[in-house]
Amino acid sequence: MLLWIQAAFVLLSYLQIGNAVTVTVSSTASHPIPTTLWGQMFEDINSGEGGLYAELLQNRAFQQVTPGTTASLNAWQAINGAGISVIKETTPVSAALPNALHVTIPSGKTGQVGFGNTGFAGIKVTAGQTYTASFYYRFPTSSGFRGNAIVGLQTTSGQVLGQTTVSLSGAQTSWTQITVTFQPTTTPSSTANRFTITLDGTAASGQTVLAEMGPSFFRLPGGNNLEGQTTANRWQWNATVGPLVNRPGRQGDWGYVNTDGLGIYEYLTWCEDLNMQPIMAVWSGYSLGGSSVAEAQLGPYIQQAIDQINFVIGDPAKSAAAALRSSLGHPQPFALTYVEVGNEDNFGSSTYGYRWKDIVNALKAQFPNLHFIATTLVNNPVLSPVPTEYDVHNYNTPTWFAQNSFYYDDIARNGMKYFEGEYAAISTNSSNIFGAVGTGRLSYPTMQSAAGEAAYMTGLERNSDIVFAASYAPLIGHVTNHQWTPNLIAHDANGVYRSTGYYVQKLFSLNRGDEYLPSTLPSRTGTLFWSVVRKKSTNQIIIKVSNTAAASAALTFSLPFGTVGTSGTLQTLTGSATASNLPTNPNLIVPVNSTITTGKTFNFNAPAVSVSVITFTAQ
Ligand SMILES: *[C@@H]1O[C@H](CO)[C@@H](O)[C@H](O)[C@H]1NC(C)=O
Ligand SMILES: *[C@@H]1O[C@H](CO)[C@@H](O)[C@H](O)[C@H]1NC(C)=O
Ligand SMILES: *[C@@H]1O[C@H](CO)[C@@H](O)[C@H](O)[C@H]1NC(C)=O
Repeated sequence: MLLWIQAAFVLLSYLQIGNAVTVTVSSTASHPIPTTLWGQMFEDINSGEGGLYAELLQNRAFQQVTPGTTASLNAWQAINGAGISVIKETTPVSAALPNALHVTIPSGKTGQVGFGNTGFAGIKVTAGQTYTASFYYRFPTSSGFRGNAIVGLQTTSGQVLGQTTVSLSGAQTSWTQITVTFQPTTTPSSTANRFTITLDGTAASGQTVLAEMGPSFFRLPGGNNLEGQTTANRWQWNATVGPLVNRPGRQGDWGYVNTDGLGIYEYLTWCEDLNMQPIMAVWSGYSLGGSSVAEAQLGPYIQQAIDQINFVIGDPAKSAAAALRSSLGHPQPFALTYVEVGNEDNFGSSTYGYRWKDIVNALKAQFPNLHFIATTLVNNPVLSPVPTEYDVHNYNTPTWFAQNSFYYDDIARNGMKYFEGEYAAISTNSSNIFGAVGTGRLSYPTMQSAAGEAAYMTGLERNSDIVFAASYAPLIGHVTNHQWTPNLIAHDANGVYRSTGYYVQKLFSLNRGDEYLPSTLPSRTGTLFWSVVRKKSTNQIIIKVSNTAAASAALTFSLPFGTVGTSGTLQTLTGSATASNLPTNPNLIVPVNSTITTGKTFNFNAPAVSVSVITFTAQ
């Protein structure tokens, strides 16, 4: 049986080599590749809240909930008969946080009584790791009570995993903050655990996987996240800075409350830590619900945008917002080149004309060196001042991405630059691209969707004289608590799962060139795509190949260089078309390295449904 399969394979490769596509590579570059080309976009949807940053508790400060309702107790539970409810405090802990948890311990109770928080669909507990918990408490009326509270982690059945004791005083009728640390002694196999009170954890796992991908820019604070459902619920930079106790949070777009624990300063320091440049958006006077701010009322919003930019790059001696940045420990400005005006304003295009004009003219006057990115369809409506950059979004099928890899080849070279701020193959059903999550949509990126995106990305690389940046979206989503699929990275309380699409982003991002080498063009209607770049500092040629077909495909590369290395590195991502990396089998499809024979002419057989990167030296 095995021999029969091998025989069939030899015959197949022979036939394909006979029909190999020959790709001749030019030794002269056509254009430099912008250093910003491959990056990532942040969207709060199913990600910013829920474990991406170090907060492990859900609904930790009862932000933006209606006191007294069942919903206000989301993620909280009584233990052993305690009475718990969310109240509007008469003397709140801060102006930003008007609500508190009111706890009554009925008389006659024995054993530990109290309350717990179940986190974001669970809490991962690891023995030996230090957990920091912080909470504020007060008693409504003064008493002589003195007692110990146990702050800790338990399984849902009550097994103690780690805990510490704090002393509470009944005389304490004004808010006082308690901070404790402890180390669990047990690592339970399940994440069905709970905490007794507010806690900040340790490192954010999201940061590690982002660094591994090596993105060069980070689009913030998201698209829809910026807009808000209403003007009042828009993202406002100044509500997201300073001590957590001063952040009111906001009703987010997707049915949950944003704590704003991950705020503008955290985004910016994150960018610095990972060597990414921010592509930052300002609110454009339009929210998701469809309402536009009238031109005469735009003034305060424009001022808020000016303040936001000053927070990032302003002079602390001249701007209160910049002085705030300085007081937080960052007197130097952050790097900032691109400011996006709104998000997907093709939906608000009837009013974008005056909003763009008024916002951009005001911002240009203050910040003449910044570039402003428009978010309507290109030249629809025609805008003044004429944008120099547009943000284009594409969600579609894997096939669409492959068939559109020549999209930018046909776009006029007239000085306009393009940002693919969001793209992803999200469904295989072309008549149902935006079908409800769970129906027409992919749950996780598949090998087929990743290959389609890679085909498109070879086109972005070829057209990087006008495409200056591109980011997949969305970046990260919780395995069970999400509003959108597919996501590049999935996470739950147990860990982080890298998708096939993630590996494509990583392969393109870590294997960049600094100039593009023209080569024989792929067929526009075919299933085999490639792009060739050179990294001058190391004399490396890097060839990326996507084969979206169900059969392998043979290529012959011809390299008209003086010297070409006789062997190179081959990195290949391949698997069955509909397979995904699931939380239950997260490493099903990962890039595999091997050595490939190279030379002035060499053959390469691209496996069925695969993405490959071939690297070798030539000069
Ligand atoms: C943020 O600033 C705006 C004015 O630009 C103000 O209306 C709003 O109250 C501020 N929000 C917070 C939480 O400070
Ligand atoms: C594709 O989507 C359309 C429109 O929702 C639906 O009628 C059709 O059944 C879907 N096709 C498949 C194969 O699921
Ligand atoms: C595969 O090769 C690339 C490029 O040489 C290298 O960066 C990467 O670390 C290798 N991966 C493994 C698992 O060896």
